[in-house]
Amino acid sequence: VVMSKSIKGLADKPDNAKTNQAWGGRFNEPVDDFVARFTASVNFDQRLYQHDIQGSIAHASMLAEVGVLSPTEANEIVVGLRDIARDIESGNFDWSIALEDVHMNIEAALTERIGSVGKKLHTGRSRNDQVATDIRLWLRDEIDGINALLSALQKGMIELASTESNTIMPGFTHLQTAQPVTFGHHLLAWNEMLERDFGRLQDCRKRLNQCPLGAAALAGTSYPIDREYTAAQLAFDKATENSLDSVSDRDFAIEFCAFASILLTHMSRMSEELILWTSAQFQFIELPDRFCTGSSIMPQKKNPDVPELVRGKTGRVNGHLIALLTLMKSQPLAYNKDNQEDKEPLFDTVDTVRDCLRAFADMVPAIQANKAAMYEAAKRGFSTATDLADYLVGKGIAFRDAHEIVGKSVAYGIAENKDLSDMTIGELSAFSKLIKDDVFAVLTLEGSVAARDHIGGTAPQQVKAAAQRALKKVANR
Ligand code: ARG
Repeated sequence: VVMSKSIKGLADKPDNAKTNQAWGGRFNEPVDDFVARFTASVNFDQRLYQHDIQGSIAHASMLAEVGVLSPTEANEIVVGLRDIARDIESGNFDWSIALEDVHMNIEAALTERIGSVGKKLHTGRSRNDQVATDIRLWLRDEIDGINALLSALQKGMIELASTESNTIMPGFTHLQTAQPVTFGHHLLAWNEMLERDFGRLQDCRKRLNQCPLGAAALAGTSYPIDREYTAAQLAFDKATENSLDSVSDRDFAIEFCAFASILLTHMSRMSEELILWTSAQFQFIELPDRFCTGSSIMPQKKNPDVPELVRGKTGRVNGHLIALLTLMKSQPLAYNKDNQEDKEPLFDTVDTVRDCLRAFADMVPAIQANKAAMYEAAKRGFSTATDLADYLVGKGIAFRDAHEIVGKSVAYGIAENKDLSDMTIGELSAFSKLIKDDVFAVLTLEGSVAARDHIGGTAPQQVKAAAQRALKKVANR
């Protein structure tokens, strides 16, 4: 009863316990009230209604095409279904738990509206191939929406990278200052992660885009159906090959959730860096106030809630992936009711991915780099020590020996609280007499980044060129 409260029209239907019209024929007693609620999915799968109706219209048209329905019958069914779609859209539809799921709710409404010809819609079809079709159609549309959000995020990220191609910051390994990089280079590293995520999403779409209709319950149907016709009506690439597989596997949903898990894992890494960078200890960036919140007790606080939430939502998305993998594990062929449990994790994954991408697409282009703080941080921590070693190698010293010499000069710098570039030539040449005045060109941060001048390197001109290439890829989708 509590469950039904959320669904329009359920509370005023006390006859929930009647035997189900769609399958009640062989039953001697009505299904238990609790069992009816336990087995029903209508309170969540009604979300599939548009795609359920789209699939039914294609199925009815095909039945008329092959002569199983008359053109008039098919037309009445199509008109009735469109009518139902409009009513659901405007909130004028009573969903009933007694009718279990979205499929039977719509079919019953059809018969109620157009009379007994409505009972012919389910000819040569089962809810098993119907639901397998609906989820594919629904997910395909969602993937296309996610494509657009992901592309918008990438575009904003790449444009910021191009703007920040000269901005120097410390690059880290082990979260210790390693070598100077440009902020633009860092942002393009993020973009590469997203570029691969985009590819994974396209792979998922390609594999799910086959039409299960015609598989019926599991074995196919004895009617002279035209599966390629239905597939084409629904813009699928083709009909699925095997009826048993068609109604049973949800690997396409698992694959989508795997994409989502990897995407959110990437976004959690970006979030973590944004959170660190906004802290008083780093002060590398400023996030606009609209992406942050304050504290009710500490007046000075500006918390990076949006990246924190994205980082946190990675947990629920990973959980949904495990839920679907576990749901599928060890299921015998063909359809099992277990599969009804595929929807809520999938729906929530889609919603979460969309929200996170939307938040990031708005927020990332609005990141303000604090160039002075980044530059100062890159100067601390001897980030050009490798450049000094490379300089000595250029003067004929073996790299291992150069490493040793520079190590000693760094120890001296730590003791004297001096960066390598702040030392005099007298101080530096004490470690090797091969160090001459020309060393200062390589010890500057600018010299260090400019020297990494190859594909994939951090030199500003390479970053600019890489941003152009990345932008072109996004534009050509
Ligand atoms: N609501 C069901 C699901 O989501 C539809 C298929 C039910 N088929 C069946 N034979 N009980 O999986």
